[in-house]
Amino acid sequence: MKIAILGAMPEEITPLLEKLDYIQESYANNVFYFAKFKNHDLIIAYSKIGKVNSALSATLMIEKYGAEILFFTGVAGSLNPNFKISDMVYGTKLLQHDIDISAFGHPYGYVPDTPIFINSDENLNQLALKVAKSLNLTIYPGIIASGDQFICDDEKKKWIKGTFDADLAEMEGASVALVCHSLNTPFFILRSVSDEAGTKAEFDFDKFMISSAKISANFVLKMVENL
Ligand code: ADE
Repeated sequence: MKIAILGAMPEEITPLLEKLDYIQESYANNVFYFAKFKNHDLIIAYSKIGKVNSALSATLMIEKYGAEILFFTGVAGSLNPNFKISDMVYGTKLLQHDIDISAFGHPYGYVPDTPIFINSDENLNQLALKVAKSLNLTIYPGIIASGDQFICDDEKKKWIKGTFDADLAEMEGASVALVCHSLNTPFFILRSVSDEAGTKAEFDFDKFMISSAKISANFVLKMVENL
């Protein structure tokens, strides 16, 4: 199977590239890495941060390079006091918290002809639970809120959590979900918590981003191994 693995930052895919022999190609200001792994053809890239960048990369992986399923791996800020630094959370539903046409009476996160929440693939979510169990690891389901903002503010954190019942804040999951949903491509979004998205979250992010990114990437590779 042709499988895309996308991160946003170099640190989110480096743990994968370190384990693989690959060739690479540059296109549209992205570098795509191609590797064979357990009879699968992997296409790996980091999109650069944000919803637009990640939508572009995901689209290219599917439309130009023929990916049949897509995994996203990376880090996120926790909005849920139960999810602590280094915990793994996969997105069951994803939304864009910074979409706002409420001036016209619409709910936050809504634009016409697009669902607010996009559901991820149930088979891949079940596979994640099975793989976690086999490795004696814990992985949690959660609602992921994406926006083009690093959340490091207690009020903003409370608003996102309260408005969407979201568990994590990050900057790419919902745009990747929208692309995959629109192109009928099953997808799985995994995040390991790097910070708690409140005041001074940027310090925890700097401290834990690399270790949390590794936890997420290693788990995604285990899932691919079990496909
Ligand atoms: N990615 C990791 N932590 C984040 C945060 N607090 N806000 C947005 N994206 C993040």
